[in-house]
Amino acid sequence: MQTTNQLYTEYVTIVQKAADLNYASAVLGWDQEVYMPAKGADARARQLATLATTAHELLTSDHFGSLLSELSVACDLTDEQKCNILLSKEDYQKNKKLPHEFVEELSKLTSECFNAWIAAREKNDFNLFAPSLSKMVTLKRKQASLYGYQGHPYNALLDEYEKGANIEMLDVVFNGIKEQLPLLLEKIKNAPQVSNDCFHRNFPKQQQWDFSIDVLKGMEFDFEAGRQDYSVHPFTTSFAPSDVRITTRVDENNFSSMLWSCIHEGGHGLYEQGLPEAQYGLPLGAATSLGIHESQSRLWENCVGRSLGFWQHYFPILQKYFPEQLIGVSAQDFFKAANKVQPSLIRTEADELTYHFHVLIRYEIEKELIEGTLETENLPAKWNELYQKYLGITPPDNRSGVLQDVHWSHGMFGYFPTYTLGSFYACQFYDQALKDISGLQAQIQNGEMAQLLTWLRTKIHQYGRRYTSEELCIAITGKKLDPSIFIEQMAAKYKDVYGISF
Ligand code: CO
Repeated sequence: MQTTNQLYTEYVTIVQKAADLNYASAVLGWDQEVYMPAKGADARARQLATLATTAHELLTSDHFGSLLSELSVACDLTDEQKCNILLSKEDYQKNKKLPHEFVEELSKLTSECFNAWIAAREKNDFNLFAPSLSKMVTLKRKQASLYGYQGHPYNALLDEYEKGANIEMLDVVFNGIKEQLPLLLEKIKNAPQVSNDCFHRNFPKQQQWDFSIDVLKGMEFDFEAGRQDYSVHPFTTSFAPSDVRITTRVDENNFSSMLWSCIHEGGHGLYEQGLPEAQYGLPLGAATSLGIHESQSRLWENCVGRSLGFWQHYFPILQKYFPEQLIGVSAQDFFKAANKVQPSLIRTEADELTYHFHVLIRYEIEKELIEGTLETENLPAKWNELYQKYLGITPPDNRSGVLQDVHWSHGMFGYFPTYTLGSFYACQFYDQALKDISGLQAQIQNGEMAQLLTWLRTKIHQYGRRYTSEELCIAITGKKLDPSIFIEQMAAKYKDVYGISF
């Protein structure tokens, strides 16, 4: 008979072994995006598949299952140990709901669907994507029924990315947007417009890079425990809290591209660096949810990076790198340019306000696809109709419309809402930080971010997956997610930028 201690040690050994494999996959994945030569793709794909399968086997074995069953009834575990076991058991049971054949079918279809999406985008022809997307929707509906759900089948898919999220809660969030945002947008449209020309001058690559490092250091990103590199699509990945990688990209004629990706990924990176090292590979060593992860990137990007105080500190530094480009521009001008609102076609380039219409549109479409009230072939028409309805613009073609995002080709239905949830959590957390940290705004004006980071570490990072997003939000701010805080912050910001009152 093994003691609880021995059983728990065995549990940790298995989970950490799987984590080693998954982090090794992350290294390969990072290299694939950053350095790998084109011919390396096939070998890399098989290496990644082997690691993923091996990790998956470890965590779905019957032996692991019985270990978890035994441990979940043990009464001499510490609070933290109990928490890890509970979460691992949840993961295990969820994994077990998908039969091996289903996982294989989904993985095959994902490759097919992704390739179809690439081809469709290249040729600007939705019909090349439609057949495999339609199969993907069918498979996702099947996945929802395998998982089981209450209410709408989409709830089962949402839960994968944001535990506990459901359409009842999201409808409240998005209905708030539907009521308030158009009014705010209308006021902005009717106000004197601001120019963002100062972002569209020629900013040489090296100086942009140097400035990005200054900003990351200012945010207290630990370069002894991470680094930044270039990639086509900016992302964050982690091999352990002591080795976190972020990437950025530079467009010499559009300063926004590097600036926002650097701060955004920096925020994700700080979260990963702040997860408890002692819980390596265990549930308590992982991020709460996608929504909370996004709250960290958005807090730094939007609440800090797009504030006047931030630019009062950083604009003079930026001017040293680009004296000619920024001649005659003030910190105030730069702040306004950073907050220009303009309905546009591409989600990833949208401003802080209209961004949420892009997410709302995807959310409405996903719900209908999964419930079966929208056929895949009618997707482009529906997409264009909703862009006209919410943003007053119609994409000239499907490439800049329905084919712009990779998510659906990967079968990621239920992912988009986490972008909006993350932004709203960010505003609510920041609102609380302003109350908890006296003089925070003055600190940011002086480029001092240490207290803010400590606050985030204490309130969020150290807990890993201990709480759900909602529990965490209540613990920090005393209430559930409240989208009106986002609206209030936007109204205050656009008062400064556009002189409107709301
Ligand atoms: Co993000």
